[in-house]
Amino acid sequence: MADLEGSESGYESFIEAASAPISSGCHGKAAMEDINMDDISMSGFSKESVAQSILDYEYENGRRYHSYRSGAYFAPNDEKQYHAIDLFHHVHRLVNGGELCRTRLENPRKILDIGTGTGVWAIEMADLFPEAEVVGIDLSPVNTDWKPSNCTFEIDDVESEWVRPENYYDFIYSRCMFGCISDWPAYINRIYTHCEPGGKVEFTEVVMPYRADNQPPNSAMAYWCKNGSIASEMFGKPFSGVAENLEMWVRNAGFVNVKVRKVKIPVGTWPKDPKQKLIGHFQLLGTFEGMEGFTLALWSRVLGYPIEHIQEVLKAVERELKDPSIHWWYLMYYVTAEKPKVVRSPRPHQPEEPQWWNSHPKGYQDADAVSMKTTDSELLQRQFEQSFRMTD
Ligand SMILES: C[S@@+](CC[C@H](N)C(=O)[O-])C[C@H]1O[C@@H](n2cnc3c(N)ncnc32)[C@H](O)[C@@H]1O
Repeated sequence: MADLEGSESGYESFIEAASAPISSGCHGKAAMEDINMDDISMSGFSKESVAQSILDYEYENGRRYHSYRSGAYFAPNDEKQYHAIDLFHHVHRLVNGGELCRTRLENPRKILDIGTGTGVWAIEMADLFPEAEVVGIDLSPVNTDWKPSNCTFEIDDVESEWVRPENYYDFIYSRCMFGCISDWPAYINRIYTHCEPGGKVEFTEVVMPYRADNQPPNSAMAYWCKNGSIASEMFGKPFSGVAENLEMWVRNAGFVNVKVRKVKIPVGTWPKDPKQKLIGHFQLLGTFEGMEGFTLALWSRVLGYPIEHIQEVLKAVERELKDPSIHWWYLMYYVTAEKPKVVRSPRPHQPEEPQWWNSHPKGYQDADAVSMKTTDSELLQRQFEQSFRMTD
């Protein structure tokens, strides 16, 4: 049974979290020469053969992208994007009362952070649990000047076979992997397989689209969310429908003691409650910082939009986000679960048609005139012009 948090009165105490410093992050300087080659570990490959090619980053529209499994992930791995990730990390800490996760952990020994990003969560967990081995994996190397000795970062694709044995980890953490995974049930089944009996898992995912109680007609933000969802679906790694289906996938994999929390996250400083205002403030900063990176590759490579058009839309979205009369928010799902002590095999995964489109609220569905199957950028352009008139 899911709890809904985040109403004006429903938040937990954020006082200690609010006073916590923002994690400084661990990406340091983004330049390739700043990466210590000894820190690069490559699951299943020799360091010599791959390290240099991994650091031959790819550049497009002024942003830097990963080169291992090039094109597999849509967002840049440069300093601007990592700054956004660190701001969102702070939002999660505020929401979770200062904690790094919602799972109660006693003496964890083997922790995995999937899609570790800047590595900030893994580093802070390694500090918190010095007896634990914390592994962060990502398609991009973690560019850190400092990390505790019990923390390692590895370059790997989580959708490939895992190098460590089955039943290995006692805590597996997966946060904001929407748009990164092509087959969620298979992903969660694999997490189940590599979690030890009695071990714990935690998933955090965002519900798309953002909403506003007083959303303006022809909203740029609504248009941005809609096209982002369409592009991610066409890309094969959807944004939408992930959070809403997590509980089902986690139960189907065989996890027990499944708990779901839905938290309303304000985007902007509009809430009256000071704690929510603070969350909204950092969420807004992260959104400004991350928005271009979340948009460029999908809208240009997948939808075929010209960069000028994309930048125009981003400016319009920013204007709406800055308008204090519009109260933007979205739902974050936090799902925690345990692998039973007595193990049974995960159910064989039956590939399904994606259900994300049907899961949208009715108004959102009605607003859309575009077939999600289309790759016709002219059609999308026409739809844009009809549904959203730019204002200065
Ligand atoms: C939105 S970021 C989330 C970062 C981090 N989990 C957090 O919440 O702060 C998604 C991360 O997943 C990584 N990623 C995407 N696809 C991946 C894959 N197939 N295997 C491993 N990492 C992946 C990206 O490189 C990126 O760092």
